[in-house]
Amino acid sequence: MGERTVDLRTILDGLRVPVVGAPMAGAAGGRLAAAITAAGGLGLIGVGNVATVEQVREQCGLARAAGQRVGIGLMCWSLPQNPALLDAALEAEPVVVSLSFGDPRPYLEKVHDAGAAVVAQVGTRTEALDALDAGVDGLVVRGSEGGGHGRGVVSTLPLLQQVLDLTDRPVLVGGGVATARGLAAVLAAGASAAWVGTPFAASAESIFRPELKEAVIAADTDQTVYTRAFDIAQRFDWPEIYGGRALANAFSDRWAQRTDALAEAVTDEMTETIKQARVDADLSMAPVYAGESAGLVDRARTAAEVLADFEPFREHLRAAQRWLD
Ligand SMILES: Cc1cc2nc3c(=O)[nH]c(=O)nc-3n(C[C@H](O)[C@H](O)[C@H](O)COP(=O)(O)O)c2cc1C
Repeated sequence: MGERTVDLRTILDGLRVPVVGAPMAGAAGGRLAAAITAAGGLGLIGVGNVATVEQVREQCGLARAAGQRVGIGLMCWSLPQNPALLDAALEAEPVVVSLSFGDPRPYLEKVHDAGAAVVAQVGTRTEALDALDAGVDGLVVRGSEGGGHGRGVVSTLPLLQQVLDLTDRPVLVGGGVATARGLAAVLAAGASAAWVGTPFAASAESIFRPELKEAVIAADTDQTVYTRAFDIAQRFDWPEIYGGRALANAFSDRWAQRTDALAEAVTDEMTETIKQARVDADLSMAPVYAGESAGLVDRARTAAEVLADFEPFREHLRAAQRWLD
């Protein structure tokens, strides 16, 4: 195994606010990642299954131009289709690389050799054990309430309690952590940092179109849906165990509970309609990936304001200290 120049625990303990900006394809580019780091957290750039090397270089260039260290998140299941994405990501000298949604083993040594720490998002106890066995430096417990893709089977708090008892390696926690109260809760449980997506997707520096940000801000906690319908319609070959949590809309109302029928019914025209809806920001048809915490995001903020709103976590931890007296 290669030499690591960075230690994950040292990085996380060194953050002013223990918040990592989750990698989010289509939302977290270099500008957002750099803004999160500049404000005292650590931002990750999201590299999706349809990303190009040029896009990765462009986004990493934005973070570099801002003079901020960042991390990068890749999708293991789609890397064999375009292995050059990993090389392009490593050229940017990320401090942390997330190898999620698939087996990290083929890529671990290369990432370590490049001097980055590796984390993997896990959605079940079995996935956690497997990632630990593979040799990741830390785990991201990612509950089913989280936005975007992931497992839809276990929610954040039960999974967190289970996984914290499995390992001494740093455990980050994603899925529904969106306020100072939530951050205090997971830190008190033993997590090293929160892994926050949805609130940053709606922030000023996110690549999300303005209409999408407004939709996340307007949504309540009960207005998202976990489904494979959008991927089936776009003919993305995500492994079946990964769905995505998005804002419910007319398309998901029709198909989310009928994905087998959708797989039969999908046509080129439907695929084109959904892809065009994304281009046009037609919110009745396009997926707007966001988690239940969309209901906790109620105004337009910069990434620095999102970080600042997490800061009172210290007061909540102090309040809980009364149980020690
Ligand atoms: C818009 C959006 C895009 C996402 N894209 C990715 C991605 O490209 N790679 C990844 O590992 N996770 C991705 N995720 C999942 C996040 O890493 C994280 O698990 C999730 O946002 C945490 O839950 P939260 O949204 O409740 O904060 C995405 C999430 C959102 C909301």
